[in-house]
Amino acid sequence: MVDIEKCHITRYPSPVLAKKAEPIEVIDDNIAALAEKMKDIMIENKGVGLAGPQAGVGLRIFVASPDGTKKNAKVYINPVITPSGKVNTAEEGCLSLPGIFGKIRRYSKCAIKAQGLDGKEFSDQAEGLLARIFQHECDHLDGTLVADKLSSVAKIAARRKLKHLRENYLSENQ
Ligand code: NI
Repeated sequence: MVDIEKCHITRYPSPVLAKKAEPIEVIDDNIAALAEKMKDIMIENKGVGLAGPQAGVGLRIFVASPDGTKKNAKVYINPVITPSGKVNTAEEGCLSLPGIFGKIRRYSKCAIKAQGLDGKEFSDQAEGLLARIFQHECDHLDGTLVADKLSSVAKIAARRKLKHLRENYLSENQ
């Protein structure tokens, strides 16, 4: 059972962000409440996607809204993606890594299979921004952050910001 009250945005280097998230076995009212809370966290922080670990929950769920509105936010549970097409490089950020942006390579298209809040499996095809969001959020479910995918030059440039985030984390979690 997820304690919804305790859900909040998690930032690097919160350990939950580095772990592989667990499948959701039962999709019930608690998971529906979690999805609702995740949408709120995403919108509050002006994001277009948010994965379970970013709400402090190590479960395989993410929400996405390419236009950043709650109305168009969709829930993906136990997602499996199949990226395809050519590889594009675009600037990407992450709500769990405030201030860090980097050029990240992603496939231009992405098929997804997931369950909705009704428990039914559905499939979708995405390209452009939504395809990028799917790949970014599924990385989160496997414990991978954009900071892990930066070029070596960008990693050096991000070093001070990452150090700052680690110091913040330590001072907030003493
Ligand atoms: Ni992210």
